Amino acid sequence: MIYISPSLLSSDFSCLGQELKSLEENGADWVHIDVMDGQFVNNITLGAPIIKSMRAHTHLPFDVHLMIQDPLRYLDDFIAAGADILTFHLEASEDNAGIMIEKIAAAGVKPSVSVKPSTPVETVFPLLGRLSMVLIMTVEPGFGGQPFLESALPKISALRQECVRRGLPLDIQVDGGINSEKIAVAAAAGANAFAVGSAVFGAKDRKATIAALRETAEEAYRA
Ligand code: DX5
Ligand code: ZN
Repeated sequence: MIYISPSLLSSDFSCLGQELKSLEENGADWVHIDVMDGQFVNNITLGAPIIKSMRAHTHLPFDVHLMIQDPLRYLDDFIAAGADILTFHLEASEDNAGIMIEKIAAAGVKPSVSVKPSTPVETVFPLLGRLSMVLIMTVEPGFGGQPFLESALPKISALRQECVRRGLPLDIQVDGGINSEKIAVAAAAGANAFAVGSAVFGAKDRKATIAALRETAEEAYRA
């Protein structure tokens, strides 16, 4: 199953309610929400209160990407705010990954971990059996509009191979620099979920863009 998850980082933050409606009408599967704390990454975005107030504006699943130090400290807030998928960075929580996953799953939310471009993908292997998704960063986290890093492709393939070998039906998401060209190579490597910021929000026709991204991914994807 292919999931297109437009990243609100590239949206107009002054009218999030309208942006959510637009994503719903234009065929998005999930909404990707980037939470940044100015510590784990060099940028600050939004927190749980804004996610909570967005919750009433759409039925689309909230795909929340935590780029924060010590995510365990704020976990309950993001669960209560209405996250459907919660991704945290292994680099920010190595000692607490097990307890994070346990708490997320116990709340009925899908647990997911992410790794930065420089973190070997094998670091997530011991956790795979307890995860719904793994997010492979295809740019350095922090900002939208950066070019896709081809060096992430072998990580995606290795992860998909490991999932297939162990019979684990995990979603593999990629995030950063995804456009009509890069979605094909990422899907061919084994990714099936795509956070897409500037390519959706910068498009004249969001509906056509999302549909084209989906079609390209469906053609290229192989598990
Ligand atoms: C970057 C964020 C991404 C970002 C992607 O740290 O995690 O979700 O919004 O934006 P594009 O698609 O423009 O690279
Ligand atoms: Zn993201």
